[in-house]
Amino acid sequence: MKPTVELNIDGKPLELPTIVGSEGEVGIDISSLRNATGCITLDPGYGNTGSCESAITFIDGEKGILRYRGYDIAELAEKSTFIETSYLLIYGSLPTRTQLVEFSNMLSENQMLHEGMRFHFENFPATAHPMAILSAMINAASSYHPNLISKRESRFPYHAARLISQVRTIAAFSYRKAHGLPTIYPKTNLKYTANFLHMMFSPYPGEDCELKPEIVKALDLIFLLHADHEQNCSTSTVRMVASSRANLFASASAGVCALWGPLHGGANQAVLEMLEEIHKEGDDGTKFLNEVKNKTGNRRLMGFGHRVYKNFDPRAVIIKQQCDKVLAQLHKSDPLLDIAKKLEEIALHDEYFISRKLYPNVDFYSGIIMRAIGIPMDMFTVMFAIGRMPGWIANFKEVMEDPDSRIARPRQIYTGETLRSYTPLEARA
Ligand code: ACO
Repeated sequence: MKPTVELNIDGKPLELPTIVGSEGEVGIDISSLRNATGCITLDPGYGNTGSCESAITFIDGEKGILRYRGYDIAELAEKSTFIETSYLLIYGSLPTRTQLVEFSNMLSENQMLHEGMRFHFENFPATAHPMAILSAMINAASSYHPNLISKRESRFPYHAARLISQVRTIAAFSYRKAHGLPTIYPKTNLKYTANFLHMMFSPYPGEDCELKPEIVKALDLIFLLHADHEQNCSTSTVRMVASSRANLFASASAGVCALWGPLHGGANQAVLEMLEEIHKEGDDGTKFLNEVKNKTGNRRLMGFGHRVYKNFDPRAVIIKQQCDKVLAQLHKSDPLLDIAKKLEEIALHDEYFISRKLYPNVDFYSGIIMRAIGIPMDMFTVMFAIGRMPGWIANFKEVMEDPDSRIARPRQIYTGETLRSYTPLEARA
């Protein structure tokens, strides 16, 4: 028997049902609350609010658990690839060999942008942030596929493949454009992540860059670790836009905008900027941490803290090991990595961070790997967006396939002026 909850408003009881998830999470179903009582709930930042039921990703923030479709993130990181994991997220189960080949072929067939889209890149200023280009170009791509506008799209697998494939092409093109480099087209014989590195770093058409397997693997892992994270800011945005029956590309483009902020995906860039600043000042991190704790200038230790993880972020553990491995394989040392390790060491033993349950998140070390690979700092959040795309698509699909899905339309508590009369301009002070 599911437990029920009794709410008492002004002496009038209301019995509310509960919903129990497959991992035992309990939600109080308040969908009858407003009709029955006239009240709504208020939860700024949605820390206590479930916006949907979802079968894609499970997180237990207290225990540091992250699972995609039931598979532990550490096992996927060790045994799977980004593309196989993308299939898993979108379609619910690991692909058979045939399904994986079909999915990979679909990605390859859809990797080219419509040639007309190349001219859009010309009109962005050289100073444009790649996230601005990415969101604009993903949305622009929908104008080349008018059938996307239809309500329940039967060609979903093609559009999903097109989006996963093209986000990588758009990202690489925007990097080449920003750096005044000739455009490199994708190759059909390269796998997803290798192809991205080829488009990014081949010096010019006809001259291919060297693709080091350890770098391809490290970047593939970064994409996989970012592939989904249940109802975070950008995924909730995608679901909200999708709830209005906007198309897949429009919904994903909105997700890119939400991801851009420094409190979300933009944190990986913010971490590196912070580390560079500490390094430039000749600080080993101690002075900076004192400023953070004293809240001088509202500074935060970027890459620390998480709304859900209150013990550790399992992705951060994997990425830290990968970071050490990549730098060793490339025979590189990085003073910023030393500062990062020092910051982590101090923070993990400091009362300020312990009492607030602040631990390194996925962004704390991912930037250092990307820097070692040669990815410029303003492309870090773009890397996150490429990785998150299958999660956004899986959530979009869930919204579209839910027969009970309604347009997302939160309420508010109004705190403004009550009714007043219009004052003519000449009578205003
Ligand atoms: N450095 C210093 N203090 C912090 C930090 C931090 N990184 N994060 C939270 N705090 C403090 C707050 O100042 C607050 O202190 P107070 O109780 O004295 O006022 C307390 O911890 C609670 O902070 P909130 O902002 O309420 O926590 P919330 O859950 O809303 O925020 C967030 C989570 C946004 C991730 C926050 O920890 C943060 O800003 N971190 C830095 C940015 C970052 O790394 N973002 C990436 C998140 S992961 C991702 O998106 C992939």
